[in-house]
Order: sequence, then structure tokens, then C-alpha cells
Amino acid sequence: MTHIKTAVFPVAGLGTRFLPITKSVPKEMLPLIDKPLIQYAVEEARASGIENFVFVSSPDKPALDDYFRTNFWLEDHLSSNNKTDALRLVRDASLSPKSFWVTHQTKALGLGHAIWTAKEFLRNEAFAVLLPDDFIHSDRSAIGQMIEAHARIGGNMVATMDVGRDAISAYGCLDVEARAGKCLNASGMVEKPSPEMAPSTHAVIGRYILQPSVLDKLAVTTPGAGGEIQLTDAIAADIAHNELWGYEFDGSRYDCGSKSGYLEATIAVALDRIDLAPALWNSMLARTEIGAAA
Ligand code: UTP
Repeated sequence: MTHIKTAVFPVAGLGTRFLPITKSVPKEMLPLIDKPLIQYAVEEARASGIENFVFVSSPDKPALDDYFRTNFWLEDHLSSNNKTDALRLVRDASLSPKSFWVTHQTKALGLGHAIWTAKEFLRNEAFAVLLPDDFIHSDRSAIGQMIEAHARIGGNMVATMDVGRDAISAYGCLDVEARAGKCLNASGMVEKPSPEMAPSTHAVIGRYILQPSVLDKLAVTTPGAGGEIQLTDAIAADIAHNELWGYEFDGSRYDCGSKSGYLEATIAVALDRIDLAPALWNSMLARTEIGAAA
């Protein structure tokens, strides 16, 4: 049993860095081999004991709304043809209708606005947020690691990693005051600072455990960096009520919102799979040899 029961998955962004595919395929439905990014995020949450799943989607993304619904026709077909492995995969990709909800952000006004859109599903208790395009490859669920730490120290918590000064301006950035093991106590947080102005090189990665008071702050947050309503600004504004913690998770994070990150994630997943790794190694070695011979 975990004290965090609900996770929000904001999936209403436009995915412009992946055009033209995102013209009709939502970024979160892009596959790492044979499962969409959104399913990896849902599995990470499920592995941590989370029971309720809220998707903040867009009316233009019906594929996402459909994906976790039971496909009775397909299940019947696989079952009557004794395709038990395929049936298991299909069932794993479904959620009980009592455990998931889809709400629509009609305009992509920013991540903060997407979370605020989910407020009616978030009762008076802390909740998790997972951004599916931040793929975390790890032995233990990254959000599960955070939930364990959060049970001890509370407050608002964000996943963090050191990205170095050159990269920090692409991220939210923690103003770190003190460290206790993997937990970094922060006095503030700023969205996309310039490298010179960044208070640290500790970037915010797409996993959060938030107190409901952040929703009140979101209600009055005005557009910030990039003209969007930023989640970072609302969490920073909540610091008078709740301590802010960064959590250095175990695992490799891939930015699947970028093409190079998505490609690296695909290779990492393939190299971890017994059915694919040997063929991939052979292919890479053959190409290296051809390259060396040329
Ligand atoms: P990104 O910042 O990667 O934006 O969103 P994006 O629109 O998805 O992609 P680009 O930058 O145009 O290529 C991070 C996460 O926040 C969600 C996205 O769906 C993604 O999961 N998001 C972002 C929303 O749900 N609503 C928004 O208004 C913005």
C-alpha cells in the first residue's frame, strides 16, 4: 500500500518537435519497440502501487483515450485462437474502467494548466505526476522510489538530475540548499534559467509528487517562461506551505520529446530484451566493421 493513490499523466501537448508524425499520432503513442511511451509511464506508476490514473488529453488525440480501454473483440479473437501470450500483452495494456479517467485540456496553455485541468479528480491528498516523454529506464520504478522517500519527508517532491551548466536552460532548475542522501532540499525553483543565472545544475525531470495546495497556486499562476502556465512556478509559490525536495532517482532518463533521446531510449530498451539484443548487437557490429573497412 502506498500513500499516493492517484497519478496524473499530462498528454495534451502538441509535440511539435516530432512533426510531421504528431500531426495524427500523439507523441505519447510513439512506441519504444512495441509499447507506446504512455504505457511505460502507466506501468511505472502501477509498479509503485498507484491505483487511479488520470489522463489530461486533448480532443484531437482519440487514440490515447482508446488505448487503455478493453478491446473485447480482439480479446475474444485471441482467446478463441489460443494466442495466450498475445492475449496477456493486450490485457496488460488495459486499465479497469473504474481506475482511469480522461479529461481534456482544450488549449495547450502549458504543463501547469494541464495539471490544473485535472483538479476535479484530485481529492485532498498528495498525488503523482508522470510525463510520459521523460522515459526512465530503471530496475525499480522511479516514481516508486520517490513515493518511498516522500512517505518519510513529505512536502512537494520533484525528480532531479545534474545535467551540467550547458544544458540547464532547457529545464526547470532547483535552488539547492542542503542534501540528505538522495534528497535535495531546495529554497526555490526557476523555469529555463540562462546558464549564467541558473542557481544550480540540478534539473527537474518529469516525475513529481505534489500537495493539493499546488492546485490553488496554479489557479492564480500567470503565464511564465515561453508564455505557458508553468508547473514550476506554482510549486515554487507553494514553498511557504510545503518544503521542496529534489529526489535523485536511480535509473537512466531519456528525453523522448527529442528525436535523439527517443532513438537512444529505443536502443536501450532493445538491448535489454532477450528477443532483440543479439540481432541488434550483430547489426551494430557489422555496421562498425563496414565503417572501419571503408
Ligand atoms: P513538452 O514541453 O514536451 O511539450 O510537454 P509538447 O507540446 O508535448 O512537445 P513540443 O515541445 O511541442 O515538441 C511535456 C509534457 O507536458 C504535456 C505534454 O503532452 C508532455 O507530456 N503538456 C504540455 C500538456 O499536457 N499540455 C500542455 O499545454 C503542454
